[in-house]
Amino acid sequence: MQQHNVLILDFGSQYTQLIARRVRELNIYCEIHPYNNPPKELENFKAVLLSGSPSSVRSEDPPHPDLSEIRGKKPLLAVCYGAQYLAHFSGGLVGQSNTREYGRANLSFVKEDELFFEGISAGSQVWMSHSDTIKELPTNGLRLASTHDVENAAYRIEGEETYAIQFHPEVYHSTDGKQLLENFLVKIANVAQTWTPDSFVESTVAALQEKVGNEKVVLGLSGGVDSTVAAVLLHKAIGENLHCIFVNNGLLRKNEFTDVLKQYEGMGLNVKGVDASDRFMDALTGITEPEAKRKAIGRVFIEVFDDEAHQIEDAKWLAQGTIYPDVIESVSVNGGPSATIKSHHNVGGLPDFMKLKIVEPLRMIFKDEVRRVGASMGIDKELLGRHPFPGPGLGIRILGDITKEKVRILQEVDAIFINGLKENGLYDKVWQAGAMLLPVNSVGVMGDERTYEKVVALRAVESTDGMTADWVNLPYEFLQKTSNDIINKVKGVNRVVYDISSKPPATIEWE
Ligand code: XMP
Repeated sequence: MQQHNVLILDFGSQYTQLIARRVRELNIYCEIHPYNNPPKELENFKAVLLSGSPSSVRSEDPPHPDLSEIRGKKPLLAVCYGAQYLAHFSGGLVGQSNTREYGRANLSFVKEDELFFEGISAGSQVWMSHSDTIKELPTNGLRLASTHDVENAAYRIEGEETYAIQFHPEVYHSTDGKQLLENFLVKIANVAQTWTPDSFVESTVAALQEKVGNEKVVLGLSGGVDSTVAAVLLHKAIGENLHCIFVNNGLLRKNEFTDVLKQYEGMGLNVKGVDASDRFMDALTGITEPEAKRKAIGRVFIEVFDDEAHQIEDAKWLAQGTIYPDVIESVSVNGGPSATIKSHHNVGGLPDFMKLKIVEPLRMIFKDEVRRVGASMGIDKELLGRHPFPGPGLGIRILGDITKEKVRILQEVDAIFINGLKENGLYDKVWQAGAMLLPVNSVGVMGDERTYEKVVALRAVESTDGMTADWVNLPYEFLQKTSNDIINKVKGVNRVVYDISSKPPATIEWE
């Protein structure tokens, strides 16, 4: 159990995760819980934050939880809707705003508050995003700051460690937002800044030992960051009782199966590489429809994984690389599409007949924290910086039917592209990159010969989470050289195009 927890009560704002990230960046542990299902044991939390919300305090069925166990009993910081609801709950008045309260604004202090505003100067830029406003402060409310359009931009309740702000401290447009969060959490609520990757490793290893004991755990490695970090954590906790399975579906990148397997073995992991390429190829024969391909790949994966897991005698647990955004999604106020996300994310959905208990060592941390935790355990930087790669692999980058020859062509193309990005210092500037093999031939000329060969599309995107993405403006010289290399070196390809579509409306993968 973490000693210095911060509770974030979520009212459904798109920024709630961002609040949690900012708090974690301060080396403070926090958890998001939906307002309508708060944790029972409030004594585990040293401070509480109330998030924003798309709702209005005045709407028909607004989030109106009872705050009486929190307000005045714990340090409380309410943000945006949270600030409005706190006012409403405590005897104030919230109404429709007369002016547009969206975008940048500048703070002017009305009352001094040494701790809350320490290090923040008058005029500091903040980000507003609301259509309601606090017309009358709650009982014992004390206005602390205003902006040009928002009279009650910040207030506190006298005699309590209760603060509220109508702007969003978690977004970068609020230039001193992080300082404000730090002032509240550290100076006012006295929360210790002890949440570090090392402390996470230490507490997680201990918790895993307690939970799993001497029982065996099976884990499907994918070569990606999450499953690798989960494996190394479990290995630290239970050693040889962790049995990893790394399946070659025949749709991995060039040499990936052998390279990554070697790397895993070098890390001391107890890992079995299973080459099931032929099984996957057989199942994919003649299938062209994208969803049918995904389903076939997922089904065979489960079959192979299950066969292997059954060979591990007395395996009681299945470990998964689920990370915090997936968890938040599944418990969020809005109840996100967690089921589908998880079946993508993990080992393709768990067949009921496996009857294993689930252990998820990363379920409380964000992607960037997974990387920091991995680095603190000495995992190779290159492995931690790998681009995301979809579970169905090149199978969803070969449009139309899949053959071994097409896989070979795409592996060569992809390797030239990815190695080129690395050699030119571009790999780490791109969130994800890859190549697609299109189901069309085009006419070309090589020497004096007419050719009629395949077209490939290169794709490189910027993103933070894959939900939205934009194509990367790669240097023309780089694209020119890459295109030449591909056409000269990969037999069967005579044309290269670059994908300049953003997501939405396109997606990152073509299928
Ligand atoms: P799309 O194509 O939906 O991709 O824009 C968003 C991100 O998800 C990855 N992706 C997958 N990952 N199994 C996975 O593990 C899948 O079936 C799958 N489909 C897409 C994609 O590579 C990108 O990072």
